[in-house]
Amino acid sequence: MSIDTKILSALRTADEGFAPAVELAARLGVTRTALRARVEELRTLGYDIEASPLRGYRLRAAPDKLHADDLLARMGKVKVVGRDIRVFEETTSTSDVVGRLAQDGVKEGVVVFAESQTKGRGRLGRKWTSPAHKGLWFSVLLRPKVSPQAVTQVTITAATALARAIREQTDLKPEIKWPNDILIKGKKVAGILTELHAELDRVRSVILGIGVDVNLTTADFPAELRRLATSLKMEMGKEWPRAELAAGILHELDRNYARLGAGEFEVIADEWADHCTTLDCNVSIRVGPRKIEGRAESLDADGALLVRTEHGHLERVIGGDVTLEK
Ligand code: BTN
Repeated sequence: MSIDTKILSALRTADEGFAPAVELAARLGVTRTALRARVEELRTLGYDIEASPLRGYRLRAAPDKLHADDLLARMGKVKVVGRDIRVFEETTSTSDVVGRLAQDGVKEGVVVFAESQTKGRGRLGRKWTSPAHKGLWFSVLLRPKVSPQAVTQVTITAATALARAIREQTDLKPEIKWPNDILIKGKKVAGILTELHAELDRVRSVILGIGVDVNLTTADFPAELRRLATSLKMEMGKEWPRAELAAGILHELDRNYARLGAGEFEVIADEWADHCTTLDCNVSIRVGPRKIEGRAESLDADGALLVRTEHGHLERVIGGDVTLEK
């Protein structure tokens, strides 16, 4: 843990808000002069830190910027997701960066955020708009012990965690549209892109790319998406603190990923079903050149959607573009 992470973590958990300088310096193993220098540096990054000669340091406010030390301080102890966090001001796609980390053999759990992406990508080859400082654009490296056929479980696990984090931090009621969209009142607020590196029978790595439209306004979306997309700010009528939401999402992802690893996918699938808008609906799913039409009945044990077609046949669908039919 870096000194800055330790300082921010101590300030966030300090009794009555103040961390006495002598105690803090001793805990960090640095002199008070060195501590003062780090606090100055944090102030230049936008942290509003009060210094009282008698009471010590107090964190009054944090900037709405993503900062790896701050995110790590907010995370505290985690099992896997978020034990290593990196933040870029700009990148092509956070999933490109994580792809390179995966090839270099980096341990699972690393999370890469970018304040903006120049080549953000969505599912089915679509472009993902990622304006600077307005959303959460991040990718997580996972190495789940599931078969390649069961990787949809990871997407379901992530969608459930994402919806739960938004529900717990806001008054909103996010719904999940199979397999990976998070909607509020029918409009998309977040999406997940799961990319897989696998051999025939073994998953080498999964790159979970997550985009959350936090503080975007209508003008930030391309014209063709304005009817279909929304942001937390547009729904809540106020700016939403991104770092707090980011930490909340990573905590829920870590919790759900541990459940998946413990063989508890059924528990996750039950929560997913409670918030899913796709189940019990007539759907039309485009899978490449094919169109599957029928009633979405349930998930199978691998996380695939089971669709009952008009001929009574049960189709197993692991990906595609879903349209809900009346
Ligand atoms: C979708 O709904 O189509 C998935 C969107 C995923 C967007 C995120 S933003 C962070 C990560 N990097 C990317 O290029 N894409 C994902």
